[in-house]
Amino acid sequence: MLNSFNFWSFLLLCFVFVNSNGANASPVASSPSCANQKRVIGYFTSWGSRPFTDAQASRLTHVIYAFFRLNPDGSIVLGDVQGGNNGTATRIAKERLAQMMEVARKHPALKVQFAIGGWDNSEYFSLLVADYSRRKVLIDSILRVVEDYGMDGVDIDWEYPVTGGDTEGTPADRRNYVHLMRELRTRFSTYEAAKQRTSSLLISFAGAAGQWTLDPGYDLPMLLKYADFVNIMTYDYFGPWKSKWGAYTGPPAPLYFGMPAKFSGKMNVDWTLKYYYCKGHALNKLNMGIPFYGRYWHNVGDAADSRDPMWRLAKPNTVNEFDGGHVSWRDLKKSGWDTTKTQFHEKSRAPYIWNEANSTFLGYENMQSIGEKVEYALRKNLGGLMVWALDLDDDEESLLKVITDKRELCSPVEATKGEAYKCSPISEQRWWTFDDGEEMAGMCGKSAPLYNGFYPVCDPDDPGYACCGQYGYCGNGPEFCDCPSCIDYGKSPHLILEEPTKPKGEIRWYTNDATEGRRGRCGRTAPPLPNGDVPICNPDSKNAHCCSSGGYCGDSKEHCECEGCVDFSKKPDYIYKPATWWTYIEGAENVGKCGPSAPRLPTGKIPICDPESAMAHCCSKAGYCGTGGVYCECEGCVDFTKTPDYVYVLADNSTSGSTRKL
Ligand SMILES: *[C@@H]1O[C@H](CO)[C@@H](O)[C@H](O)[C@H]1NC(C)=O
Ligand SMILES: *[C@@H]1O[C@H](CO)[C@@H](O)[C@H](O)[C@H]1NC(C)=O
Ligand SMILES: *[C@@H]1O[C@H](CO)[C@@H](O)[C@H](O)[C@H]1NC(C)=O
Repeated sequence: MLNSFNFWSFLLLCFVFVNSNGANASPVASSPSCANQKRVIGYFTSWGSRPFTDAQASRLTHVIYAFFRLNPDGSIVLGDVQGGNNGTATRIAKERLAQMMEVARKHPALKVQFAIGGWDNSEYFSLLVADYSRRKVLIDSILRVVEDYGMDGVDIDWEYPVTGGDTEGTPADRRNYVHLMRELRTRFSTYEAAKQRTSSLLISFAGAAGQWTLDPGYDLPMLLKYADFVNIMTYDYFGPWKSKWGAYTGPPAPLYFGMPAKFSGKMNVDWTLKYYYCKGHALNKLNMGIPFYGRYWHNVGDAADSRDPMWRLAKPNTVNEFDGGHVSWRDLKKSGWDTTKTQFHEKSRAPYIWNEANSTFLGYENMQSIGEKVEYALRKNLGGLMVWALDLDDDEESLLKVITDKRELCSPVEATKGEAYKCSPISEQRWWTFDDGEEMAGMCGKSAPLYNGFYPVCDPDDPGYACCGQYGYCGNGPEFCDCPSCIDYGKSPHLILEEPTKPKGEIRWYTNDATEGRRGRCGRTAPPLPNGDVPICNPDSKNAHCCSSGGYCGDSKEHCECEGCVDFSKKPDYIYKPATWWTYIEGAENVGKCGPSAPRLPTGKIPICDPESAMAHCCSKAGYCGTGGVYCECEGCVDFTKTPDYVYVLADNSTSGSTRKL
């Protein structure tokens, strides 16, 4: 951990060194002109009405023009990114680029990139990266734009490889995306050498926020190897989507997990950034995205949890979609939102407006939430912050100012050590999820069914389910995280590797998925295991390793220390032999009777006395179990504590037997 931190600090310094070629040349008036400034990246849209301003330019390290249009033949042009041939849109796109470049050129420290893709225009990526020759066409086009417009680099905004977004992807996208990045980097390097450029061209990409998109589509270690940085779209976790996911109201970009019980803990900025860090280990390449807009719902109903008014369920309209939309920060008031009614959600660190009178809900970002995000980025020592989009701020640049006014954006590397993310020590899954079936979901601990042969733990990266509670289920909150037998894998992910991670031998106990009547049962009174054996209790269990005389697993005195109890943590190999004396289970009326004169056991054998019994381990001549001289020391008496292997056999095949010692 320590080593990797130093390693990346070192890289950060190198990065700064490379970048400072231009940066130190002519610092602009209000820009934080420090050596190791965090990135402040703004997207400027090819549509919209606000121009790019000097005030914005002086506060940014990078501006990205979004988007150039990507055509099916791999050419890249200025035009209608919606896919049509809208001449007005094309004209506006051209005018806005020209205007942006004019302002940007007055700020030599400002890096200028262009983006391709986005939600509306990612439909050709799969095809265009499918093989080397097609990738070459695409890379040629990128280089042409760089050259024609004097760009400092490109931003690939593929939404999304493999899973697709507006259009479908293919499984090969994951691999081909890496090929594209590597070939692009090689090509840029060759170009830089040929042109004797003093600064290298930038490659960045827009990264998804959700695990369902990231896991299949993004080979993060490889992508981050070739890219200078990633602009992580840490927003749109909640919105009035035209699918079942659109039903839940919430802020577009909650900083932390703050949902009611049973919700995934992965729908927040902190989760996403931790994911990127733990996969790629390139903290200085991660830029946290901040939305300068909110999303709202109509027809909003009750709260999912009555104690928390933010998470609510919207009702679908007649075509089973959710009514709502998005609104920019600058248009909040104009659109009828009364921001004085804003509430700030304690756990999520996000503002929202719940308007009960017209059943509308708005989740958005304000100066407080953005301020806390900037502080988070500084505390974690991220590479920087990204904004979607500059156009959505008000005329005073109130939101952008919150980001750049933080003096620490300039502090030396050594001063911000970063508050490390705690990554899971394993890369594979060892916990039951809903994908494995509702019945198994969330089962954890030593009494749970094994996951791939391991005792299942809880997902350390899901704050909604990171703790294994006393009843063997994953969850969060005090009842799952703070009880004596609770385990908090989020706080201490290394506990995943605490021995024993697997049972030593075969499982001879009922796991928690067993049917009622079997679950938690043990001993001769319990229903036998499928192979006919008597079930034991798991010796590895902290709170259920003893079998009571009544046949239940637990860890109390009644389970561990009574007559007839078995503590499997002390005797893990104990096997219940078929009963060789009468017990209350086998026949209450015969208890205490032993020897040839006693009624035969169900096995047909002559009953002995329990060698482990303190008061009844000897069989008297008259055929009763007890202790003392009459039972233990007479002629014909048997003390089973001394000779536990003694068995009665019949001398002849008559009913009146005599005894023989084996
Ligand atoms: C063309 O683009 C302009 C500017 O974005 C927009 O106002 C107009 O509605 C578009 N026209 C069509 C037919 O989509
Ligand atoms: C909600 O209703 C009030 C009047 O009750 C109105 O002033 C306001 O504009 C409405 N807000 C929205 C977002 O529709
Ligand atoms: C008694 O029974 C056993 C088996 O049941 C048999 O092997 C043995 O020969 C018998 N002995 C006599 C004396 O009948």
